[in-house]
Amino acid sequence: MITLTINGARREVSAAPDTPLLWVLRDELGLTGTKFGCGVAACGACTVHLDGAPARSCQALVGDLEGVAITTIEGADDAAARAVRAAWVELEVPQCGYCQSGQILSAAALLADTPKPTDADIDAAMDGNLCRCATYARIRKAIHRAAEIMEG
Ligand code: FES
Ligand code: FES
Repeated sequence: MITLTINGARREVSAAPDTPLLWVLRDELGLTGTKFGCGVAACGACTVHLDGAPARSCQALVGDLEGVAITTIEGADDAAARAVRAAWVELEVPQCGYCQSGQILSAAALLADTPKPTDADIDAAMDGNLCRCATYARIRKAIHRAAEIMEG
């Protein structure tokens, strides 16, 4: 058994150590907010936070993650994540929604580190998160809005 810390709770999982975290989240733990897109670190749909930093869960092996704080969309609730969620709702960012868990987690990690990001900061941080519905302009606007919300 491997013990993971997911959204603040300890979870024992039976998957082999070389299993990607994405599979364990979705298939073993039922945390289906994290999406499978490409499986090869090319789309960002599977983004989670590992010790606060955005990471592709399709590439992270559970055997390497004991002692690491894993946060998924279901548990992302710090000030940055709350501001991002509020801005996403206000500006109606999602279209089909498939990529949005990953977008929100990448945006929240950016704002936690850089409370007033420039367009260039946003483009750099969000570069690996693809959106088939091309919501990019709304995402950028919503990140600026989230920064305002965080400022109060
Ligand atoms: S599913 Fe992990 S980056 Fe695409
Ligand atoms: S909202 Fe449809 S893929 Fe991004």
